[in-house]
Formats: sequence, C-alpha cells, structure tokens
Amino acid sequence: MKLTEEQKKRIEELLSQMTLEEKIGQMNQESPSIVGGFDVPFEELIEMMTDGRISKEEFGRIMADAKQDYHEDDIRKGLVGSLMVQDPVKVNELQKIAIEESRLGIPIIFGLDVIHGFRSVYPIAIAEAGSFDTDLMERTAAMAAKESRAAGVAWHFAPMVDVARDARWGRVSEGPGEDPYLGSQFARAKIRGLQNDQSSPENYVAACLKHYVGYGACESGRDYNTVSMAMHVFYNNYLKPFEAAVDEGACTVMAAFNDLNGKPCTVNKFLLRDILKDSLGFPGFVVSDANAIRECIVHGACEDDMDAGIQAAQAGMDMDMGTEIYVKNLKEAVESGKLSMEVIDEAVRRILSVKMWLGLFDHPYVTEEAMKRYETLPVEHTDLAREAAEKSIVLLKNEGNILPLDKNAKISLVGSLADNKEEIIGAWAMSWQEKDCVTILDGMKEEFPNVRYFECGGPEGDLNMNEILAAGDYGDVIVAVLGELVSMSGEASSKADITIPGRQRELLEMLLTTGRPVVLVLMNGRPLALSWESQFVPAIVEGWHLGIQMGPAVAHVLSGAVNPEGRLSSSFPAMTGQCPVYYNHPNTGRPGSKSKFTSRYLDAPLGALYPFGYGLSYTTFEYSDLQVKETEDTVEACIKVKNTGDRSGKETVQFYMQDVAASLVRPVKEMKGFEKISLEAGEEKTVSFSLAKKDMGFYDNERTYRLEDGKFRIFIGKSSVDCLMQEIEVQF
Ligand code: BGC
Repeated sequence: MKLTEEQKKRIEELLSQMTLEEKIGQMNQESPSIVGGFDVPFEELIEMMTDGRISKEEFGRIMADAKQDYHEDDIRKGLVGSLMVQDPVKVNELQKIAIEESRLGIPIIFGLDVIHGFRSVYPIAIAEAGSFDTDLMERTAAMAAKESRAAGVAWHFAPMVDVARDARWGRVSEGPGEDPYLGSQFARAKIRGLQNDQSSPENYVAACLKHYVGYGACESGRDYNTVSMAMHVFYNNYLKPFEAAVDEGACTVMAAFNDLNGKPCTVNKFLLRDILKDSLGFPGFVVSDANAIRECIVHGACEDDMDAGIQAAQAGMDMDMGTEIYVKNLKEAVESGKLSMEVIDEAVRRILSVKMWLGLFDHPYVTEEAMKRYETLPVEHTDLAREAAEKSIVLLKNEGNILPLDKNAKISLVGSLADNKEEIIGAWAMSWQEKDCVTILDGMKEEFPNVRYFECGGPEGDLNMNEILAAGDYGDVIVAVLGELVSMSGEASSKADITIPGRQRELLEMLLTTGRPVVLVLMNGRPLALSWESQFVPAIVEGWHLGIQMGPAVAHVLSGAVNPEGRLSSSFPAMTGQCPVYYNHPNTGRPGSKSKFTSRYLDAPLGALYPFGYGLSYTTFEYSDLQVKETEDTVEACIKVKNTGDRSGKETVQFYMQDVAASLVRPVKEMKGFEKISLEAGEEKTVSFSLAKKDMGFYDNERTYRLEDGKFRIFIGKSSVDCLMQEIEVQF
C-alpha cells in the first residue's frame, strides 16, 4: 500500500483539522438498519424464517417493503467511516452526502462480503483452492474487483484464509482448506488479484484478510466456539496464510469472533498489535467482525460497552463493525484519560491511508457508464466462471471407467439440486442474478441429446417412488446430483453429522437396485463422510458449489470434453466421528495401525477416506526416479512423471517434507510446493523443486524460528498419501 508524499501530507492535514468526534466517526462502520414496515422486531422476523413460521419468500417480500435507515444524518456529521451497501445508486447518494455535506468531505469506504465473485459467481474457495492454479485464483479475484468497483464497492471482506481442519465447521466452504502452504499461495494470489491492477481506480479494491485468527480451529467444529492451541501449532499453521498475505500487501484485516487461548481476538493486543502490526509490519487497518466488540462482554472479557470499546481500541482494533460502541463511548474515554489520543490518531491515519490508496478522495463516485457495464455479463466473465468451475471439479472414484459418458447415452438425471439456480451459487454470494446461472440440468441438455430429468428427491423432503422407477427404466446410466443445500454450509452452519443429508442415501440405494450404473455428482460446501457411497456407488464426482457456470462445467467433465484436474484441498473423512482429520498431523508415539494399542478408532478406518491432494483423472500418471540432493542453500528434488493412459491430462505434482526428529515434534508431512503440468498420452516430464533451506524450519512456542540439522524426508507424489520418498541429512 504505497502512498506518495503528497498523499501522506493530505492525510496529516486532514487529521489536524478533524475534531475528536470526526476521528471516531472514521472508526465506525454501519450497515443499513431495518427500522420498520412490519409488526415484529427484526430479530424475531429472522427467527420466524429460521424456524419456518414464515417462508423464505414471505421474508423476502417483507424485506422488500421494509424501511431502511442509511444513517444519512450521521454521515452528514462525519460519524460514519464505512458502510455496507451494494446498490450503486444508493452508494452515490450516500457518498454525495459525505463529500458535499460533511464538514471535511471525507469519502465513505463501502465494503461487502465478496467472497467468491460479485456478479459472476465463481466456485466457493474450498473448491477453487483444489484447482491448485494460482493464476486462476488471481484472475477470478481481479474480475470480482472490477465488477464490484463498478457498483461502488471498493472493499472486499475477503479473502477468508482460515486454515480449517474440521469438516463439521460450516465455514470450511469459504476458505482454501486445511493446508497452510496451499492456503498461503491462495492468499497471495487473491491479494494480487484484488489489489494489484492500479492502472485505474476502477480496477482494484482493498482486500480484507479474515478471520484473524485461529477461527478455523473452533472446538468440535461448532461455529464461534472457543479456540485453544499450542502456540507452535498456531505459528506454523493458522498464522501462516495471514503472514503470507500481509507480505503480499493486504491492506485490511478482520479480527475473528473467537477467543484464542482465553482472549477474544477482538481485544487481543498480542495478536493485533504485537504480531500483526509490530512484528509483521501490517500497514493497513483492522476491522472487527460484525458486533464482535459488544460480544466481548458476552465472552466474559469486558465489563460493559465502555470497557469493550477501550480494550478493543487499545488492542489495535481500528474500526468497529456494527455496534456503534466506538461512536458512543470513545470520546468520553479519551476525555477522561482512559484512552490516549495516539490510539485514535493511529487508527484514523490507517483508515484514511486505505481510502487514499483506493483513490476514493479523487474518484468517490460510480459513473453511469460503470453502473451499466455489467448489466449483461461479458463473455470473458462467463468463460472465466466456467474455466474456474471445470478446474475445481474432483473425480473421487471411477470404477470400471464408467466415466466419461458416451455423448449419445440415454441419461437419467436425478435429484432436485440438478435443477436449481440458487443451489449452484454457494454460501456468501452477494449480487448474482438468476439469468446468469446455468444449472446442471441445462448444462447436461446442451452436452447430451438424450438426457431426461427425474427429480426423485433432494437434501430435504420425501422421495418420489414413481420417478425413481421411471429413472431406472429410461437411462442406460443414472447421474444422481445429490448433496447439501447452500444453507447447510457457510456461517452458522456447523453440522454434527456430515453424511449426505436427508433421504438421499436411501435414494442412492434405490437407484442402485435398478441395476443401472450410477454416477454420483456431489454438490456441497464441506468435505462429506462418504464411507457408504465410496463402497457402493461406482463413480463419484465432487462438484462442490461451483457458481454460475456449474452446469456446463459438470457436463463437460461427464462427457470427457474436460479431463478432471481438481484435487482435494481438504481431507474427506470416512465417518463424521473422525473429524478433525488432516494430513499434516504429528505422528504420536503410537501412530494408528492394525494393532490395538495405537492411536485409532475401533469403529472407523485409519486416516482420511479421500486425503488432501487426492483426485483422479481420465488418464493415469506414473511417478519414478525421485532424486534429492543438498546444496549450500537449498534441497533440490526432481522426479519423472509419465502419462501412462491414452489421453492428455493435467497432474498436480505435490512436494512435501518431514523433519524426522526435532526439538518439537513436526508433522508427518508438510507441503512445500506443487506444480501443475500437462502431459500428452505417453509423454513424460521431469518436474523439479528447489526448497530453500531457510524455509525448512519451524517456529517454537516462543515464536523463535528454528532450523535444526538432521534427517529430513522428501516426498513427491500425486497426493498427501501417495508419494515416493527419499531421506536426506541436512545441515543449516
Ligand atoms: C462474518 C464475516 C463477515 C461479516 C460482514 C460476519 O458475520 O463472520 O465473515 O465479513 O459478517 O458481513
């Protein structure tokens, strides 16, 4: 976030003119509040929808008529630094008040949860990370930046880079999975895509890393739950993607809801000031999560609003999302000497710097032309959405090479998810339009002339026996699109049972009894426990929630027009009770085995059913001739990879290491690199990795980085469990 001397001067001049109230106003973020138009309090209305007293549609109708308060008076008084609004006309209207009617004319920064696309919705992050294609991750972010900026949204509450090892947690869908290395590459790519094209203020936005930090380790996968972990685990895993993204230039950070080892992140000076701002040198500003400052009272960390506001500000929380605790308390806190003016000035300087860097002072409004730019999505946008969707699909099983399907085969397409535009979008999609969405049914119709649709059943509700029988009668093959509704993952959507929900297992059983081959296409926002399906269903395609072009992408993979190349960014357990299951765990003194007194369950298999990095292709790849050598500063490794099948394909060659004995036990494997290669049928390539020795160390509990001589294992292979290995002695 580079500012010119001139820009820095402008910020200091503004600061010197601002009253204390105006400064605190910059530290305040508001959402439009619902203030009426219906008879019950807003919270109750939400409850009514959640418990089914009113339908989603009724809720939508009530909201459309509801009156909203956009805080115009407060904007006029300079008391609002940021707002969450997505309508560009409204953005301009409110911005005009800030620029023309507030005393100093400081622009508002409008922010939103643009997690996986704005108008063009791309695959959810857990899926896109599995493309192992950082160039793609960057391009989807850059496109999202352009689309949202054209609607006046200059700040994305993304990327979400929480390391997530527990599939019960609903928010695994929003982030890049379980691995700190892949998570760091994803984080860097997203920051580049969102922020780097500064050729025009219309091309970039401010990213917001979230949720800082450790949120993904919420106990038992239950959202918002407490987080406790050893500090070496924290530094070597959960902090890593944040560190990488700060290094890449991320200009805002959102603190997480949870406490970490007893202190809520929102008021955690050690995390916000000591680590983020002082040690990592983060130059931007920190925003709280929604209502999180007040929730510190509920955590039991603060006495009341005043105490929470003071503790948060002192800890380094620059902006309050949603509670108005700052605007209502910090003036008194400063005047009574409980909070220093330096804390306020620092926060405001950081916030103004981001606004200045975004060009908001000189380009505060959305132009008429920009507002209309994406009325119809340009073809490059849909092409990119399709490319991302295709690259994110993971082939989990393909017994007897059922797939790809013959284009002229009679296909019975089954499952309500196959014909639903809302369900392909995934959690956290802000501004998508139905007309842009292509369902699996529509995609299949384009690709296969003899497809017929039989709804049969879905994640909720009953099964239709007649349709099941008809599907069995018609198709040479049955494609069953089953899985989770969008509302079953994302925030506040943790689950204690992550098998395929509702009566869909029964549906599969019935489809299998028809004697037709069954292809299961999954739509879901988290790893599912697929023990039963993996035994009985011959072909399984992991389709996640892939966004607006899900339909064509799935159809292209099923027909073989696209050879699947996605790999899992998160391990899939066989059974829910194995959660958390992840590849980079320590060995323990008694690693799980067939013997009784080892670290295992009596009633579950050892390890993941489908591990991190796993994924099949319509061709096969063989690895041979791993060579490893040490140089003064690096460990060099290379391997031959051959396409042994009869068609071209893409392989993600994965590079891992293990520090065999160290002063703190280290994971059985940790990813240190990957490279995606294309191979024609029969072609062989040598893939090389160079690992800098300085990157082979680890942090201890005091955050001292340790490089310890000794034995290392170097692995290269096609997944976290399927590698060739060589040992090497390394001296640092
Ligand atoms: C979520 C954040 C999100 C914020 C604003 C919170 O509930 O935890 O991820 O950015 O709401 O919408």
